[in-house]
Amino acid sequence: MRSATLELLIHSSSVTTETPISFKKMFAVHLLAFYFTKLKEDQIKKVDRFLYHMRLSDDVLLDVMTRFQAEMVKGLERDAHPTAAVKMLPTFVRSIPDGSEKGDFLALDLGGSKFRVLKVKVSEDGKQNVQMESQFYPTPKEITHGNGTELFDYVADCLADFMETKNIKHKKFPLGFTFSFPCIQTKLDEGVLLSWTKYFKVRGVQETDVISSLRHALRKHKDVDVDVLALVNDTVGTMMTCGYDDQRCEVGVIIGTGTNACYMEEMSNIDLVEGDEGRMCINTEWGAFGDDGSLDDLRTEFDREIDLGSINPGKQLFEKMISGLYLGELVRLILLKMAKKGLLFNGKISTALRTKDKIETKHVAAMEKHKKGLQNTKEILMELGLTPSEEDCIAVQHVCTIVSFRSANLCAAALAAILTRLRENKKLIRLRTTVGIDGTLYKTHPQYPKRLHKVVRRLVPNCDVRFLLSESGSAKGAAMVTAVACRLVSQRKQIDDILASFELSKENLIEVKNKMREELEYGLKKETHATATVKMLPTYVCGTPDGTEKGKFLALDLGGTNFRVLLVKIRSGRRKSVRMYNKIFAIPLEIMQGTGEELFDHIVQCIADFLEYMGIKGARLPLGFTFSFPCRQASIDKGALVEWTKGFKATDCEGEDVVDMLREAIKRRNEFDLDIVAVVNDTVGTMMTCGYEDPNCEIGFIAGTGSNVCYMEEMKNIEIVEGTEGKMCINTEWGGFGDNGCIDSIRTKYDKEVDEGSLNPGKQRYEKMTSGMYLGEIVRQILIDLTNHGLLFRGQISESLRTRGIFETKFLSHIESDQLALLQVRRILQQLGLDSTCDDSIIVKEVCGAVSKRAAQLCGAGLAAIVEKKRENRNLEHLKITVGVDGTLYKLHPHHLGL
Ligand code: BG6
Ligand code: GLC
Ligand code: GLC
Repeated sequence: MRSATLELLIHSSSVTTETPISFKKMFAVHLLAFYFTKLKEDQIKKVDRFLYHMRLSDDVLLDVMTRFQAEMVKGLERDAHPTAAVKMLPTFVRSIPDGSEKGDFLALDLGGSKFRVLKVKVSEDGKQNVQMESQFYPTPKEITHGNGTELFDYVADCLADFMETKNIKHKKFPLGFTFSFPCIQTKLDEGVLLSWTKYFKVRGVQETDVISSLRHALRKHKDVDVDVLALVNDTVGTMMTCGYDDQRCEVGVIIGTGTNACYMEEMSNIDLVEGDEGRMCINTEWGAFGDDGSLDDLRTEFDREIDLGSINPGKQLFEKMISGLYLGELVRLILLKMAKKGLLFNGKISTALRTKDKIETKHVAAMEKHKKGLQNTKEILMELGLTPSEEDCIAVQHVCTIVSFRSANLCAAALAAILTRLRENKKLIRLRTTVGIDGTLYKTHPQYPKRLHKVVRRLVPNCDVRFLLSESGSAKGAAMVTAVACRLVSQRKQIDDILASFELSKENLIEVKNKMREELEYGLKKETHATATVKMLPTYVCGTPDGTEKGKFLALDLGGTNFRVLLVKIRSGRRKSVRMYNKIFAIPLEIMQGTGEELFDHIVQCIADFLEYMGIKGARLPLGFTFSFPCRQASIDKGALVEWTKGFKATDCEGEDVVDMLREAIKRRNEFDLDIVAVVNDTVGTMMTCGYEDPNCEIGFIAGTGSNVCYMEEMKNIEIVEGTEGKMCINTEWGGFGDNGCIDSIRTKYDKEVDEGSLNPGKQRYEKMTSGMYLGEIVRQILIDLTNHGLLFRGQISESLRTRGIFETKFLSHIESDQLALLQVRRILQQLGLDSTCDDSIIVKEVCGAVSKRAAQLCGAGLAAIVEKKRENRNLEHLKITVGVDGTLYKLHPHHLGL
């Protein structure tokens, strides 16, 4: 308080300099001045002594600053947050205005000393330009102490009235809602009120979302069409208002009816919000500092009394020592006590002085006014029914000074803590920054700003702070936030529209099932078989295993993600068991797409390596060849390749018997001999493997690199094979479903792009919508499109995004995994060379989800057709059947076929 005393002394000395110079007179004046100064000093000393506890030294302020720093850390930490007094609420405002904001907005500003409705026009014709029109509306006690419905109806009515007067009812507007109370936000357009503060106490609003209440009330006005896009605390609005003029602004402070501050925090320090890049504005709600008792040593009896008489006892204790709603009352309580003790007004007390809230902040401001302050004090005290002496006025004025100085000091300490945090976050030795500031106390109290600035600069000498008064309130800032929200909403809509094309209704799926059913029938019928898109190839496998099989076999597995050679040892009887030894070999791209001879020579080379590796080179073993491509078979050991699918395109193979090609390659090598006994599709292999365990298994399904199904069909239905007895396994080759255009209505442009870029354009359309080899490509096409629209990766198409096949099935599955936090998704994308932000990662995850969900649904519809057919074949009401499933997509994916 030393500096306050000094200030008053300077004022009194100015009285001296104004007197004319004449010796006698000068002597008289000196005497007078001495007398006056003495009188003043006495009064000041008296008050200083009485309010000793309210005068805070710099050491105390530095201590408060340290305490507030600890509070901020607590509020930000996940574990400490629930019990933290200072709530540090994420606001979902991520950037300071950058000048690209534009449009017409409506704004509501509720919670300060005045309720306002505004229209804000932000244009950018070469030079940025903001025009505002506004109207104040009263907030009578029935509203601030009524119930929630009444409050929001009233707010909506005022808005409608405003639009009526401005003649803008016919137009749709985005709206930003400045709501100056603590709200928990999980997004910009949501805010659950934690508790009322200041002079509001409306029933039924606490713990509810104020945005939905406002929307609800607005719906009652049929002629008003507004889109409530953002909820903004007044501190945030203030920071954004000032940020529009000064990009350096990263703190917003309100010292008005209430007090509070917000600032830009590093995302990596905000535990409550996922993601770690960039910054987000945190609404500190510093008004609640001390609610856990941490400021009890600084609170005086007057602070305790104010609190007890307030509508929220025990809450907002810091605010109650600082803000406009309480300052006048603090002064009154002090004067009352001093008068009672006979220290003022000769011990006389008026009724007004005993009456709550009779002294307001505007009185405090008037009493401290430069020059006119003493006169004002006298008038104010007289209006309170008191008859103050000269001494009383001086003393009362000094009480005001101490109370308002303490307010500025405490704000300065908390603000200094924020500035220090900003400086440390940025790892700077010196911070240059701007604080946007607003509020009636700050704006109307004559000494407040300069005192605040001075103390802040003293407490944080290593910060160069510019204080910028928010001339136009927080609504302009709210409009900036709304503008950004508006852009996000339209971007979101574009993303949703794209993803919607991957959504299939129940009707769509039933149609897919029915069409698949038709195609299955075509494939089985003699006249239509040749042209059917679902080829329905007989496999000459007529029964599933019965468990009596035994012996040693070699197996080849070509056509899935891996090429494998296996040795299978089967024991039957009581010690029934299957043992397998296998080795995975790579098939280089140039071999997959080279000549047939090269391909089969390579396969034989791999077999030779395996035999060597297993030490069985001399043995002539029976070999089963799992060949996962469509083959037209005339017997179990003969299969002519119809056409390559997936990633294979070796020449001179289509139409040829693959068993012959393999035999010839073995001959060419002339090192060993093998007895090729069977060629089977992978679906058939899967059905047989599962059938070994479960005799009910009559369907084999592959959801892997490719997609296909086989099932046991009645011989009498298979017109192209002689005989009507028993069953035979049919390899449906359903991947070709849709090649006649029958599902084109659900194919998207991305499916078409993937098809066009594939080895077999126009072919395997269903497979290309459902299997691992293509899902990643669909995702990539969507991501390219989103990026071209500026909705992803900052609009930059990277080299990796241009690369075919980067999204292998395993990556898709990882990205979609539920347990994976966004940061991990982001890391996967980074591994793939996609430098993504967390927002990007969310979108990529959604895209993967949409694409693979559709895949699973389509397979489900296809399987339903097969199951239904089997049920009808057997004339059953209810069919119990097992589907053997395999494939990387099915095995790795967290949700596949969660039908
Ligand atoms: C205004 C803002 O400028 O300042 C309000 O627009 C805010 O939203 C107010 O609440 C704070 O000051 P006071 O003194 O009106 O509470
Ligand atoms: C109160 C509110 C806070 C607001 C401040 C200034 O402290 O809780 O949200 O910012 O007043 O109006
Ligand atoms: C492709 C093949 C098919 C195979 C499926 C799964 O669709 O054409 O034969 O079963 O992929 O690997």
